[in-house]
Amino acid sequence: MSYQGSDEYDYLFKIVLIGDSAVGKTNLLSRFVQNEFSLETKATLGVEFACKTVVADNKTIKVQVWDTAGQERYKAITSAYYRGAVGALLVYDITRMNSFENVSKWLSELQDHTSQELVVMLIGNKSDLHNLRAVSREEAEIFAKENGLFFMETSALNNKNVEGAFNDLISSIYHVLKKKSVEEYGDSYLNKMNSLGVDYKLKVNSRKDENQYNKNDDSKCC
Ligand code: GTP
Ligand code: MG
Repeated sequence: MSYQGSDEYDYLFKIVLIGDSAVGKTNLLSRFVQNEFSLETKATLGVEFACKTVVADNKTIKVQVWDTAGQERYKAITSAYYRGAVGALLVYDITRMNSFENVSKWLSELQDHTSQELVVMLIGNKSDLHNLRAVSREEAEIFAKENGLFFMETSALNNKNVEGAFNDLISSIYHVLKKKSVEEYGDSYLNKMNSLGVDYKLKVNSRKDENQYNKNDDSKCC
């Protein structure tokens, strides 16, 4: 998968970051988009998002990643936050069992607010702190399997698996949506379109404004 800065894209994917406070959501985002990490990150206030354009399967995909606080008091923004999302990174901290136990709670919230096609990757972050590990890789893998989630351990600090986690999620979203599109239209439709030289579009949110929590935030990204 490669990256490019162009403003032209075939698809726009909205991905949400969720998980308890201080598990490392904001640092995973800044590592992915800007290759930056901060030891002194403050708790996120409200909603932020950042974009990155990737190329997968010869398609240019603009990925808009939304980030919000893991704290209870920001629950009011929930519906707008999830609207239009096609993927989620559900993050816990491998040194805090409580953040792993709360993964079920985050899954229920996802199910309440999103469609079934949403692709979810469970992320055990802070893998660099292996001496403080409280959640084994095995139990997280079992949980992920039982709940139909992809799973990866990452370190935003060491830049381990961060790009891999985002890229795997993006590829999976692409393939899920492509499959859905084929099922909806049927092969004959696609063959006809291809023979006419028409590049069919996946049915994802490709309009910029559908995905924006606050249209006045245009300057922030995308
Ligand atoms: P909220 O915005 O409150 O929901 O928190 P968050 O999930 O966005 O966490 P954030 O990215 O702000 O990180 C919380 C703390 O964990 C910060 O001090 C980070 O420096 C630290 N941190 C994040 N990722 C890692 C990591 O991979 N390894 C280590 N050792 N620390 C990390
Ligand atoms: Mg944050």
